[in-house]
Amino acid sequence: MLVLGMETSCDETAVAIVENGKKICANIVSSQLKLHHRFGGVVPELASRAHLESLPLVLRAALRRSNLSLTDIKAIAVTYGPGLIGCLIVGVSLAKSLSYALSLPLIGVNHLEGHLHSYLLTSSLSPPFIGLVVSGGHTSLILVKDYGDYRSLGETRDDAAGEAYDKVARMLKLGYPGGPLIEKLAREGNPESVKFPRALPNSLDFSFSGLKTAVLYYIQKCGIANPADIAASFQAAVVDVLVKKSLMAAEKTGVEKIVLGGGVAANEALRRALKEAGKKKGIKVYIPPKRLATDNAAMVAAIGYYYLQRGERSDPFSLDAISDLRVESRERREEEVDCIL
Ligand code: KG4
Ligand code: ZN
Repeated sequence: MLVLGMETSCDETAVAIVENGKKICANIVSSQLKLHHRFGGVVPELASRAHLESLPLVLRAALRRSNLSLTDIKAIAVTYGPGLIGCLIVGVSLAKSLSYALSLPLIGVNHLEGHLHSYLLTSSLSPPFIGLVVSGGHTSLILVKDYGDYRSLGETRDDAAGEAYDKVARMLKLGYPGGPLIEKLAREGNPESVKFPRALPNSLDFSFSGLKTAVLYYIQKCGIANPADIAASFQAAVVDVLVKKSLMAAEKTGVEKIVLGGGVAANEALRRALKEAGKKKGIKVYIPPKRLATDNAAMVAAIGYYYLQRGERSDPFSLDAISDLRVESRERREEEVDCIL
């Protein structure tokens, strides 16, 4: 079964075609990095306009890459939240139109669920597991009991981990997006040179705002003569917290599998530290390849396929974009949408 996946929740226009939830026939990601670079972050209005222009081209590129036509596609999966509302609407509108015009089943997918299940494309692990989603908008520890059956164990009370990377990169005048730039700079620095704070040590919730402020105060006091040391010390604090809380979640729930997902999962220091810590505690750690960790539509098609297999469908007339969609309430939120309409 060939599923067409679409993802436009933030600043990547992505279309993928995935066979039976596993085999990637095409996975095209068009980044808007250059567009937002000079603003130091994503400008929502520019992002949604860029999706409008790029989405049909990216769709055509995915079909060409896979040597397929729209008539070969058997279903459509699309991210309907969370994310920037104008951006989400572009993807959801095209998905609904195609579903109606081609009489294809449609399934709305939560972006975080996509990140949680991107491992599906490369490994045969099945729930239950602890999912750690670390992206520009989220830092969440989730107990995945089954597909669609989630319990939030902890989340950030302020900034997301990726957001902290982006903000600290701006303080160090590195540019956007900050994650890969800080990671590169940190390789040349000493992670122990500045002892930045690790917040909420006994909770499964996260807080990165104090860390961000500590970096700011350090720069105000000492300047940025040693940017690599600041980057390495900041990264050490983020990685330390993410790893410790993931292990704490595994211990508390007795679930001995941890799955990492989201843009920050592309970070080599985090990948290494989580694997090593898991090994010491006898906990299996699953990490998707970097190209599937950051935003893409293959993960949307993959989890969409599992819902379609279970007979779940979204209504091409009533599916709507929901900017603050939560992962635990998939069914409830879809019911709410039905009621509103
Ligand atoms: O999942 P994603 O691609 O988009 C969102 O859903 O937000 O994540 C983007 C975030 C950005 O904040 C970016 O700085 C961060 O992921 N990121 C990284 C790395 N690559 C991307 N953070 C740390 N290290 C990286 N290598
Ligand atoms: Zn994401």
